[in-house]
Amino acid sequence: MEGIGQVERIIIASRNKGKINEFKKLFEKEGVTVLSLDDLDMTIPEIEETGATFHENAKIKAETVASIVNEPVIADDSGLVVDALNGRPGVYSARYAGEPTDDVKNYEKVLDELEAVEEKNRTARFVAVLALSRPGEETLFFEGKCEGKIAYEPKGEHGFGYDPIFIPDGYDVTMAQLTEDEKNKISHRFHALERLKKWLTKNLNS
Ligand code: IMP
Repeated sequence: MEGIGQVERIIIASRNKGKINEFKKLFEKEGVTVLSLDDLDMTIPEIEETGATFHENAKIKAETVASIVNEPVIADDSGLVVDALNGRPGVYSARYAGEPTDDVKNYEKVLDELEAVEEKNRTARFVAVLALSRPGEETLFFEGKCEGKIAYEPKGEHGFGYDPIFIPDGYDVTMAQLTEDEKNKISHRFHALERLKKWLTKNLNS
């Protein structure tokens, strides 16, 4: 496999500014320029996330954009996995209570479904999968998890999505009660990015 040594720029298959900034912090230290879909002078169609897993969705997004731009692309997919709900909302996290996406309706649906579930069975995790697609190479995956449990009621004002109902292991407050910096040290995305960074450092130096 060719390393990423010759790569000067990488495209992130996202228009989410928070995510793009996380990638910028990581790659620009390594001398690789990060571009978002909004930075490209090309029309990229909306990509339907039709996969049954985070890996499939990240792969669909990364490979679709890579086939259009013909250069390295990273895409991510993430969500909340609740054991007592057989893994739901999973890949449906963003639209669990229907469309358009509504964070409050989504987490209220999870709380309702877990109403009769006792604390020891409220285990859950956030999962993030990054897919790196390069022309002519197999797509690579980097996964990160953050284990925890589902609270009985929403608390906290920070973060987004299911943060107000998710209590990370080792804490007695929700993810939404942590500061952005505290969350960024334990989040699923942080762990996935760490794995990507390890791979990158190894392959940049090889
Ligand atoms: P996406 O990967 O940006 O499409 O995110 C999918 C959905 O998963 C989001 O809309 C949220 O509902 C949920 N999600 C992903 N990451 C987080 C997080 O860090 N906190 C809370 N919810 C999250």
